[in-house]
Amino acid sequence: MNKKVKKFLNKKNRAKVICLTAYSKNVASILDKHCDLVLVGDSLGSVLYDYKSTKQVTLDTMINHSKSVRIGVKKSLMVVDMPYNTYRNSKQALKNARLVMKKTKCDAVKLEGGKKIIPIVKSLVNNKIPVMGHLGLTPQSIYKFGTYTVRAKEEKEAKQLLDDALMLEKAGCFAIVLEKVPSDLAAKVAKKVKIPVIGIGAGNKVDGQVLVIHDMLGMTKEFNPRFLRRYMNLYNDMTKAISKYSKDVKSGNFPNSKEQY
Ligand code: KIV
Repeated sequence: MNKKVKKFLNKKNRAKVICLTAYSKNVASILDKHCDLVLVGDSLGSVLYDYKSTKQVTLDTMINHSKSVRIGVKKSLMVVDMPYNTYRNSKQALKNARLVMKKTKCDAVKLEGGKKIIPIVKSLVNNKIPVMGHLGLTPQSIYKFGTYTVRAKEEKEAKQLLDDALMLEKAGCFAIVLEKVPSDLAAKVAKKVKIPVIGIGAGNKVDGQVLVIHDMLGMTKEFNPRFLRRYMNLYNDMTKAISKYSKDVKSGNFPNSKEQY
């Protein structure tokens, strides 16, 4: 197993795992100092491109943003989301994941789904491509489920999710993201599997947390799920700064005598 992935796995039951998303090098280089894992999430579809769902994100878009992120990430594990329709079967998944690994030099890829993708996960892992799983709210299947509400509240779905997690672990995943599921269920999953379970809207009894960087910095305004904590209000701070710049240019205050040649 890849050394970086092994180090990440060893965090289980030792320390909380810190993860955030990044889509470009400047942000990635700041995260790299504090994170164990930087995820180039296909959430970039909604955050940067205003797509209705992540299903519109292409492999080329993921590769281009990941190349930029790679410049900023030196020490953390860099994981890239495989977008919708790029891993429909083992052959297609292997071809596309190899391309992502080769072009972006990332450390691993992330795939959404449980039982259905087990043969695909096995095939990637057997070909030395580290895989992170993603269960619970899986935005690429949004039309199948119809809503972005909390997943696995009913017993049957909760049992399926736990089974899926165990299957992903057995297939060789080195970690699993659990999105928007009841915290008791997430805690149960984290206890049962030996790989790190990274939560987003899954409570604090899991092995680590991930948030979308634009959401936690307050760049986005419309997305307000209960699980989101905003650590600053970048939208307002940027608005203030840009308005000040505009005033300074209009009044002739910028540039001043020291800011010219
Ligand atoms: O696409 C993404 O950013 C993700 C995280 C929300 C885990 O999958």
